[in-house]
Amino acid sequence: MGLGWRLLARPVISRLDSERSHDLALGTLSKFDKSNFGKSVLSRMYKSPELPIHTLGRLFHHPLGLAAGMDKGARALSAWPALGFSWIEYGGITRYPQDGNPKPRMFRANSERALVNSMGFNNPGSSSLRDSLVDRKSSGNWPNVPIAANIGRSKKVDNEQAPRDYSHTLDTLWGHADMFVLNVSSPNTPGLRNLQNEDLLRNVLRECTKVREKYNSNKPLLLKLSPDNDDELISEMADISIKYGIDGIVATNTTISRPEPKNTQSRIAFSQSGGVSGKPLHKRSLEVISNIYNHTQGKITIVGVGGIDSPDSAWKSIQAGASLIQLYSGLVFNGPGVTSSIVRGLKSRVKEYGFSGITEAVGNAHK
Ligand SMILES: Cc1cc2nc3c(=O)[nH]c(=O)nc-3n(C[C@H](O)[C@H](O)[C@H](O)COP(=O)(O)O)c2cc1C
Repeated sequence: MGLGWRLLARPVISRLDSERSHDLALGTLSKFDKSNFGKSVLSRMYKSPELPIHTLGRLFHHPLGLAAGMDKGARALSAWPALGFSWIEYGGITRYPQDGNPKPRMFRANSERALVNSMGFNNPGSSSLRDSLVDRKSSGNWPNVPIAANIGRSKKVDNEQAPRDYSHTLDTLWGHADMFVLNVSSPNTPGLRNLQNEDLLRNVLRECTKVREKYNSNKPLLLKLSPDNDDELISEMADISIKYGIDGIVATNTTISRPEPKNTQSRIAFSQSGGVSGKPLHKRSLEVISNIYNHTQGKITIVGVGGIDSPDSAWKSIQAGASLIQLYSGLVFNGPGVTSSIVRGLKSRVKEYGFSGITEAVGNAHK
């Protein structure tokens, strides 16, 4: 673990009040975001090797990106690549600004290397975020990697009006991301996950693809799924996604299921409402990736997320069928060195297996 991280954020990150630690770390990183010197220092410490993959119409330096929720308001957008990530997903953003659920709403279960959160899409809202992204671009501080925007449903809007709510946010942010993730799977907005039911999902996808048509653009649209759906529903959603021209599936969001707690701290964390992320999620995330890959015969790009924190877990997700991968909790528990160590590990595996590149490893477990 680098000295920089220890000095910067590691001590605060390890306490129990996870949201405060997160805010402090993000605040520090957003200062690096504004300084080219700061970014070059970080980059020297945390740069990842190249392991290129071409997917979703773009070239990624390697498959590993930052998952949604870490930088909801895109405050440190240009600093994340200096921590070794090849692509960044900001958000979840909703049409209207939201405070989210009452605090505390983010808990650690250290023994399980898991987090429980019930944030509830705290975010500045789509118009305000667009304005800050416009300022960022005009000041020349736009990162040189693919950027995804994660879009959620506003809490005050019901599911009948959800298609318009998503498409409005999509329209507002259209010029400010390279691809968009429609998040119908957060457990922390009441009723949101019902949008995974067939008819409601079709309506959301229809409205959102209309926005893309309006701009006569081929920017990718992706759908982020819950690990708590059964395999049949997941296959159905993959079919509907393909039918509506969705380019990729992000598997998965956090789970409402709970592992057996190993101690009192974990018992407290797991008794909170919200979604579990981190190590305990990896097994189910792998199953969902495999299920979608098998069902669609590799026809839709899969982004694997959930419990990736090592070269081994990353390799498994890729072999299960993910072309791209992301992490959130792994960064909290392992510090920023985790990114380059994962990519270095993937690079060695590619060599070990005698593959010409990482693309050959995608879905390899099924061959
Ligand atoms: C505090 C927190 C906030 C999150 N917020 C979002 C969000 O706004 N939108 C979203 O799609 N996923 C969100 N996620 C889910 C992550 O993007 C990811 O799917 C999940 O944490 C599993 O990955 P991990 O095990 O690497 O953490 C959030 C996760 C955490 C821990």
